[in-house]
Amino acid sequence: MSANPLEKAARREAPLGVFDSGLGGLTVVHALREKCPGENIVYLGDTARVPYGTRSPETVVRYALGCSRVLLKRGVKAIVVACNTVSAVALDMLRIELDLPILGVIVPGARAAVEASQGAPIGVLATTGTISSNAYPRAVAALSTRAVVIGQAAPLLVSLAEEGWVDGQVPRLVAQRYLEPLVRKGARSVVLGCTHFPLLKKPIAEELAALTGENLPIVDSAYATADDVATFLTERNLACTRTERGTLDLLVTDVPKSFREVASRFLGETVDEVHQIDL
Ligand code: DGL
Repeated sequence: MSANPLEKAARREAPLGVFDSGLGGLTVVHALREKCPGENIVYLGDTARVPYGTRSPETVVRYALGCSRVLLKRGVKAIVVACNTVSAVALDMLRIELDLPILGVIVPGARAAVEASQGAPIGVLATTGTISSNAYPRAVAALSTRAVVIGQAAPLLVSLAEEGWVDGQVPRLVAQRYLEPLVRKGARSVVLGCTHFPLLKKPIAEELAALTGENLPIVDSAYATADDVATFLTERNLACTRTERGTLDLLVTDVPKSFREVASRFLGETVDEVHQIDL
């Protein structure tokens, strides 16, 4: 049965649900709050179980379903999966199991990479789970028959980002270790294929420039994802009509010691309140 006009209007004003294994998805929230400033957002970071990127696809699907159900109970109108690992291995299952729109980060990231690379080989830095899933090569192949994708698992970068250790010698050395094989295999652009990695863009860019002697494109899927979400909401008549800034509810499954500082860094704005929940 189709919704009546009142139900449709209420749905438009409902919040957008966003989740990630931890705090990395806040980089997507940051972009969403720029592109769709009126939208109310409920964010869930599964900080008690991060990282997802080293776990089996079955476990990631189970965790992702748990996160999605929490958001569903909060009355969200759509879910943005702000995690590459979940987008890589669990998106289809979420779409089968849940009766609401689910948007991921891989397809927008792949599209931005194809545009930036102009046919040259694309390097992808991501979690072990995302790289093993081949989600990026598949998404790129659907957009371009020419582009080659070279993947590199970079799990240590996740810990550095969660720890807030995003500048200086250690992140640069780790970035160098992961970039070197990509450059050796001919990558001419680098996709930050993990929502934690935009925080490490500076050391990654510095090392990429040091290794190649050039300023090659670095692709951050957060803004491409926010563009897709904005278009989707408008096309489906789901965009809110609010003109004032939307609210942001932060839910986490654990509150690490340095939470506020790290979360503010990911989000690019001060974090005042956060609620701890059990899944
Ligand atoms: N946010 C996750 C992603 O984008 C990385 C962190 C994790 O391993 O859970 O893949």
